[in-house]
Amino acid sequence: MKIVPGPASIELSKKLASILELDLVRVRYKTFYDGETYMQIEDNIENEQLIIVQSTYPPQEKHFMELLLLGETLKDLGAKKVTALVPYLCYARADKRKLSGEVMSHQISLNLLSKSGIDKIITVNVHNPEAFLSSADKLQKENINLFSYLGQDLAKKYEGYIVIGPDKGAEIDVKTLSKYLNADYFVMEKYRDAVTQKIAIKTPEVDLEGKKVLLIDDIITSGGTAKRAAEIILANNPSKLVLLFIHALSKNEVYDQLKSMGVSEIISTDTIPLENLKQIDIAPYLANYIQENIIK
Ligand code: R5P
Repeated sequence: MKIVPGPASIELSKKLASILELDLVRVRYKTFYDGETYMQIEDNIENEQLIIVQSTYPPQEKHFMELLLLGETLKDLGAKKVTALVPYLCYARADKRKLSGEVMSHQISLNLLSKSGIDKIITVNVHNPEAFLSSADKLQKENINLFSYLGQDLAKKYEGYIVIGPDKGAEIDVKTLSKYLNADYFVMEKYRDAVTQKIAIKTPEVDLEGKKVLLIDDIITSGGTAKRAAEIILANNPSKLVLLFIHALSKNEVYDQLKSMGVSEIISTDTIPLENLKQIDIAPYLANYIQENIIK
C-alpha cells in the first residue's frame, strides 16, 4: 500500500506516510497560468493499492477536480485499488431536495468520484452519515466520527464541562464525547428557514450559571448556528464557553466575533488547515484508523 499526496493535503500525506511507514508516490504538480493544476505521477504504480489523501476544502471545485483527475489517472496507469481519504468532503450538505428544483450536490459528487475509478472513499464527520453511507453509487464508503477518537485525549482537559450540541443532528456526537468526558449533556433544537437561511434555536431549561460549557458541532460555515447557540448559552452566565468544531470553514472575522461575544476558546481539527485557529492534528487519528481498518 502506498500514499498518493493530493495537492491540497501534502503535509497530511507526509505525516501519514511517516506514522504508517508507507511509501509516498512521487507526484509532480504545477499550476498553469490560468490556475488549472498539472499533475504527473512519477512512480510506477501498476498493481499497487493506493490511498489518495486530498481534503476538498475551499476552493472546493479545484480540490475536488484534482481528486477526480488523480483517481482516473491512477486507475489508467494500472493501480489495483484506489481509496480516497478525504478528511473534508465538499458539496455534502445538499443531500435532499428541500425546495423544488434544487441541485442535490452530495449524490452528484459521489457519482463523479465513482465514475473516476476511485473504488472507496473514507471521510471524516460527513454532514449526513446516513445519506452518505446509503447513497446510490458503486463506491465503498466509510465515515470516521472523530469525536470518538478525540474523546480520550480531550477527557482530562474538559473534565467537568457540560457538553452541548446546537441541533438534533449533533446528538450522536454530543453523546459520544460526553461519554469520554463523563459529562452531562443536552442538545438544542434548531430550525433554519430554507429560503432566508435564518436560524431559530430553542433550548431546554438547564441551569448553566457558573458552569463550564463545551459547545460542539461537526462544521461551522456562516457561523450563524454557533453565534445563536453561543448567545443563548452566554445569556445564562457560564464560567467558560469553549467551542469545538471538526471542520472549520468560517472566515476569520466570524471567530473574532465569537470571541468578542465572550467565547473563551475556539478549537477545530485541521481537516481544513488554518493558521489563525487552534487546531488539533488529525494525522495520528487517521493513521490509527487506517492501521486498524485498512492495513490490519
Ligand atoms: C448543521 O446541520 C450542521 O451541523 C452545522 O450546525 C451547520 O452546517 C453550521 O452552519 P453555519 O455555520 O452556517 O450555521
